[in-house]
Formats: sequence, C-alpha cells, structure tokens
Amino acid sequence: MDYLKIKKASSLKGKIKISGAKNASLPLIAMTILAKNSVTINNLPNVADIKTLLKLLSNLGALCNTDLSNNSATIDTTTLHETKATYDIVRTMRASILVLGPILARFGHCEVSLPGGCAIGQRPVDLHLKALEHMGAVINIEAGYIHATAPKGLKGCEIIFDKITVTGTANIVMAAALAQGSTTIINAAREPEVVQLCEILNANGVKIEGIGTAVLTVYGTNGNLLDIKDFSVIPDRIEAGTYLCAAAITKSELTLEDVNAKHLGAVIAKLEEMGLTFSITPNTITIHPAQTIKHVKIITQEYPAFPTDMQAQFLALATQAEGTSIIEERLFENRFMHVSELQRMGANISLNGNVATIEGKTKLSGTDVMATDLRASSALVLAALVADGETSVHRIYHLDRGYDSLEKKLQAVGADIQRLKE
Ligand code: UD1
Repeated sequence: MDYLKIKKASSLKGKIKISGAKNASLPLIAMTILAKNSVTINNLPNVADIKTLLKLLSNLGALCNTDLSNNSATIDTTTLHETKATYDIVRTMRASILVLGPILARFGHCEVSLPGGCAIGQRPVDLHLKALEHMGAVINIEAGYIHATAPKGLKGCEIIFDKITVTGTANIVMAAALAQGSTTIINAAREPEVVQLCEILNANGVKIEGIGTAVLTVYGTNGNLLDIKDFSVIPDRIEAGTYLCAAAITKSELTLEDVNAKHLGAVIAKLEEMGLTFSITPNTITIHPAQTIKHVKIITQEYPAFPTDMQAQFLALATQAEGTSIIEERLFENRFMHVSELQRMGANISLNGNVATIEGKTKLSGTDVMATDLRASSALVLAALVADGETSVHRIYHLDRGYDSLEKKLQAVGADIQRLKE
C-alpha cells in the first residue's frame, strides 16, 4: 500500500494545471450507454474511480479503448450485452449506481448491487429508485441487488425529489433521455457536473429545458439511441478548491490553469472572507496570500452554496485561522472522520453533532495519520504542509480515487512530498 511522506513547506510557488472533473466524468461515461456510436471523451482525470467505471462498462461488454495517461477514452457500448453491475465493483465505488438509469432505459432491465453504507454516511439510493418507479419501472430488492425492469419501457412523468441528489438527478436525466414523452424533474441538482451532462445530451438530440435550474424537462427519444459527438470534460472544481486551500494555508501565491472560477463562487467567497485575494481570468485563478488568515463560518449545502466536498479542506485551513471558526455539515451525517486525525496533529477542534468548532491558530505537528475518505485525505495533506517536522498520510488509496497526480502537482510548486510503499 502507498503512503505520502510530507515535510513542512516554507511556501509554494508556480502554476498547477487542473484536471477534468471526476464527478462530471462519471455520469458522462455512463451516458455513453445511451449512444449508438463510439464516443471519445477527452480531459478525463487519471484517477481510480474513472478506471473503475470503465472496468464496469468493459465487464458489461462495452469496448473501452482507454488512454488515461493522455486523459482520454473511446467507449463503444454497441457491444454491451450484460446488464448486471456486480458487488465486487459497486462496493469499491458507489457512483456505479449511475449505470442503472441508462441500462434500464436502453435494455428494459438492469441489476445493480446495492451500494451499502460508506465512511461518510448511509447514502441511500431510495430517491433514484422511487423516481424510476414513477417512470414505470418495477423495482425489487433481493439478496443485496436492485432488480429493475421496465417491461413497457420508461414513461415520462413529473418527479419531485424530496432532497436534492446529484447522482440521482443524473440517473433520472439519463433514463428520461430514452423514455417515451417528457419528464420534468423538480428540485433537481444544479451542480456544474449535472449541467454538463444535460448540455451534452441537449447537443446530441435530447431536448432539455431548464438546464442549470432546479426544474429540468427532458424530452425522451422513445427508445432511439443517440449519436453522441466527442467532447471534453469540465475542470474539477474540487481539485481546484483543494489547491486554493494549499496556497492559503502555506501563505503562497499559486496560479491554477484550466479552471473555471464561475464554478467556485462559494469557495472563493469564503476564502475572501478569510482574507485571501484573487486575480481571475476566464481559465485561470491566481490566489494571493493573506498575512493573517481570518476565522470563518461555513454551512455545507447543495450547489451553488458551499460544497460538502470542500468541507474537510476548509477545516484544515481553519486550524491556521485566527479565532473561532464554525463549520456545519448539512449533507452527510458522518463526514468528520478527519477531525480526530487533525486533533492528533494538535488541532483544537470540538465536535457537536454535525457542527465542528475550530479554535485557531494552532501549531500542528507532523505524525502518522490515516486517510478515511477521499476529501479527508486531502485535508490531511494540507495540514501536513504546515505541520512541524514530517507527516505520513496512510491509506491514500482514498486520495487516488479522485486526485490526479496530487503529489506530482504539489512537488512541481515546491512541496516536499513523496509517495512511498508501506
Ligand atoms: C455526489 C458527489 C459527491 C458529493 C455529493 C454531494 C458524485 C459522483 N459524487 O454524491 O462527491 O459529496 O454529491 O454534493 O457526483 N440521498 C438520499 N437518498 C438518495 C440519494 C441521496 O437520502 O436516493 C441523500 C444523501 O444521503 C445525502 C444527500 O441526499 O445526504 C445528497 O446526496 P447526493 O447528492 O445523492 O450525493 P451523491 O450523488 O451520492
């Protein structure tokens, strides 16, 4: 197993190129199930979750010509014949549920292993299933598997999501793309990753109204497969946000390239409250250091509000802010696993339910820490950049799920970070 050894950084300097968004790539790869042609996707991040979904599609019979070192994959799903996503893959990546909508829409049946709980919370998929039932699917849960059939095909209808769900919205948009008639999704997710999925479908024969709003209307093709043109994935706003926090915590100036600042509104606003300043162009963000980092109050919510996927990184940053910061996690009930590891490094954090209170500024000390989930891993890396001495971050397979070449990107801007074998 790999781990990262990180020494305290004096400061970072230079440019970091942001990779394509993992959370946009996953639904877009699943979307190729709706195509009658082979599709090349560019700007895919070279991360484990993308390999997992491509492996799942290959297992189902698709031909995937993958060149992730060049960030592209050509996917031909015309040969796809299996419709069962088995436990061995789904348990490694919950987002495998994204194949349910498109496979069901195309083949009229699909089985997907139930994802089960995960480190950050229960994460049920009940809203995905309820919506598909509204569209005419018959769904049974048996022996840990979701069995979905749509004997008469999926039918457009009105769906009201009780809660905003990102992969739930993507799944239903893809199912609705091949359904009979129109589907209106009320309380849809507005994340840029959902927007890109809708835009690509809209540009390739599926009319979608309300893109980027909470009410989407998808006009189904009545079973006609799509002719999808090649495209590139949008930049990863969470990766970008993480490197902005790396610059902020080390009081450095960094320029991010191939990034879209419009997707980072809430993150940049919070950093500004903390005293950081920015120079922004259409595809770069330069962050300028603050002499003193100010305390902050954050509530995680759905886009366009502050993302839960940036909560752990800001918590690490708040340990270096003057005064009392408060971070409330509203999306996942157990997403504070990084707190106990940061406490071991000397952070002064108290937890009360879903609210963390961080007293700063505290001196952090390097030690052995364990990553518990994807974003918690990057929070530990950020803390390690300012901790005295040396920090070893273990179990970085979590980090490898979503960060493309993190240690190489940080090395290139001056961090002392090495990947080693346990
Ligand atoms: C996606 C992102 C993840 C991010 C999360 C919230 C991907 C691949 N992953 O995850 O990085 O942290 O959005 O921004 O894009 N819920 C239900 N029932 C459901 C579905 C969701 O109760 O059927 C709840 C969840 O438990 C959670 C909330 O709704 O409390 C939001 O979850 P959701 O938006 O679905 O998260 P994911 O799509 O899994």
